[in-house]
Amino acid sequence: MNGTSLAAREPRTPAEWERYYALRWRILRAPWQPQGPDREEDEERCIHRLLCAEDGTALAVGRLHRLDQHTGQIRFMAVAEGQERKGYGSVLLQSLEQAAREISLQQLILQAREQAVPFYRRRGYELVEKSFLLFDEIQHYLMRKQWGS
Ligand SMILES: CC(C)(COP(=O)(O)OP(=O)(O)OC[C@H]1O[C@@H](n2cnc3c(N)ncnc32)[C@H](O)[C@@H]1OP(=O)(O)O)[C@@H](O)C(=O)NCCC(=O)NCCS
Repeated sequence: MNGTSLAAREPRTPAEWERYYALRWRILRAPWQPQGPDREEDEERCIHRLLCAEDGTALAVGRLHRLDQHTGQIRFMAVAEGQERKGYGSVLLQSLEQAAREISLQQLILQAREQAVPFYRRRGYELVEKSFLLFDEIQHYLMRKQWGS
């Protein structure tokens, strides 16, 4: 990892929200479902994080939502094409984990694409089980990270 001084935060302006959803859709949906929606119905209940370059280009995005009193779920983690392995995903994930602690969650779960399992392992997530196949080809794995109260 190169390390970065860039910080992740919630998108602020309409233009930032556009860049947020556009990056997410481009990386995680467009190759398989080009006509599909770029957002879910629960977005307003989620905590969102965007990491931008100094010129405003979106580099990484991700979101968190509460499942129950103790548990949150991370979804839609995506780093821009050509910007992987520079530490942006880690900064984004750490920001979501910090947000989870601030709302007193004690564990996070996520559904990792197979290619992303090493990334989450490196960030302290344990593999729970093989889960579902998205778009008939992308194997997912349920992963979990717990911490004390
Ligand atoms: C998976 C993803 C979020 C990781 O973000 P990233 O910015 O590339 O990851 P980082 O640079 O923060 O990686 C931190 C560490 O995780 C591990 N890691 C990350 N990607 C890895 C990979 N493809 N294979 C093996 N290890 C990996 C490494 O240990 C890495 O540290 P190192 O580069 O010093 O070896 C990003 O690559 C991405 O968006 N990929 C495409 C979409 C996707 O799969 N999203 C996840 C959906 S669940």
